[in-house]
Amino acid sequence: MSRDDIPPYLNISPDRAAELLGPPADTPGFASVAEACRRGRQDLASRGLDETGERQLRLFSTWEITRYLIPVAPAHFRRVLRQNPDLPQGQSESAGGAKWFTLDEVLRLRAHFGAEGSKAKNYLPYRPKGLPAKIVAVANFKGGVGKTSTCAHLAMSAALDGYRVLVIDLDSQGSMTSIFGGQVEDEWQTVFPLLARHYATTLRADNQRRLDRGEPPLPFDDTLTEALKLKAPDLIRKTHWPNIDLIGAQLNLYWSEFQIPVWRMQSRGWRLWDALTDVLAEDGVLDDYDLVFLDTPPALGYLTINGLAAADILLVPFGASFLEFDSTGRFFDMLHATFASIEEGENVAARALGREELHFEWDAVRAVMTRYDAGQQAEMAGLIQAYMGQLLSPHRQDFTALIGQAGEQVNGIYEADYRDFNRETYARGRATFDATYAAFKMLLYGIWRREETARTAAAE
Ligand SMILES: Nc1ncnc2c1ncn2[C@@H]1O[C@H](COP(=O)(O)OP(=O)(O)OP(=O)(O)O)[C@@H](O)[C@H]1O
Ligand SMILES: [Mg+2]
Repeated sequence: MSRDDIPPYLNISPDRAAELLGPPADTPGFASVAEACRRGRQDLASRGLDETGERQLRLFSTWEITRYLIPVAPAHFRRVLRQNPDLPQGQSESAGGAKWFTLDEVLRLRAHFGAEGSKAKNYLPYRPKGLPAKIVAVANFKGGVGKTSTCAHLAMSAALDGYRVLVIDLDSQGSMTSIFGGQVEDEWQTVFPLLARHYATTLRADNQRRLDRGEPPLPFDDTLTEALKLKAPDLIRKTHWPNIDLIGAQLNLYWSEFQIPVWRMQSRGWRLWDALTDVLAEDGVLDDYDLVFLDTPPALGYLTINGLAAADILLVPFGASFLEFDSTGRFFDMLHATFASIEEGENVAARALGREELHFEWDAVRAVMTRYDAGQQAEMAGLIQAYMGQLLSPHRQDFTALIGQAGEQVNGIYEADYRDFNRETYARGRATFDATYAAFKMLLYGIWRREETARTAAAE
């Protein structure tokens, strides 16, 4: 047997190991690592390897538009364009070549077909008039299960479908923010000031009551005074998608996890779980958009709880493996414990005062199987399905190489140019995310229709 055949862990000399080890680590050591990474990052950026810079969305071809976005025959599409010279005519790379359009142009074309085209066709996505936007949270305390990928792809497919989308990044890792090209300086450009404003409003009312009773008011610091001046539109930024806007995140957002419990201690009456919903409603966001997507961190902290409480639709991605299934089960356990304890805490007082009790309710909750490999996981997935029943969304989102491959400046399947891929790979990758969106849209339509029907019934 040659030396190379010995497994690497069988031949370790303690002396050699001690020699290689280096000194023990201490706190300042972290600062040195951070500093080295910061310099490395600068170097990468100077070589053009960063994620910043003006991002531009690719163009959409007549083929893609008529196949995926505006369901008309290509010949009819071209005829309508010829008859309406004021409509966007697209650009081609060569004389007589295929026409390509920006998404903005596609949206204008869709509006035209929606207004002028056959009423039998659904050119415009359904949104009942007068009902608020739906808030969708994607969450699981297990990391790396496909939360951000699912959330980003749903936001993009909804935007391609013609919805006005707002994405809010609640994860201080800021992955969703970099997907949408957001540059966030500090916590004041995240959702933090909105939560602070909600607390400030409660505290101000509390203090007024204290003054009325002749008690000293609680301290009202500069953070709260500043936060009172900010509204959601001050924080919302445009992205390279014409109909996707963003409230971004960066590391400082994590500060909220320490600040929120302090506020809650100060003012016991603060309904922190209502914070996000209340500010979004007050600031008109739920009228300005059709869908609000919340990407959450892999933890059940205060930001996640806030996002979950604000959500109308909760999606819980997980993979068809024992470990992910197991930890997703425990995530639901924690959701139960967390929300039951909030309800219990509130309702003791509510019952005593004869006030209405608090009961959290979601329009729909679904577990979404992600990164599914039919060759390896069919049996596992079948079993999981048997136990989860209705909770499990009917579509299994396949593992697709397209996600990792899309490239430096491009995020996910909808941003990738299909000409860069093998046709078969592209079609399969796209089909699985289209189906993820279809399953979501089925929920959305059902929920909006249910509300519309209830509203009509109430008016009669
Ligand atoms: N359907 C898919 N096919 C192939 N790869 C996927 C798929 N979905 C996600 N991935 C990959 O899995 C990894 C984790 O995905 P993602 O970042 O979306 O998970 P996450 O739950 O948001 O992670 P975190 O907990 O860190 O926020 C990424 O590398 C992503 O590219
Ligand atoms: Mg994520």
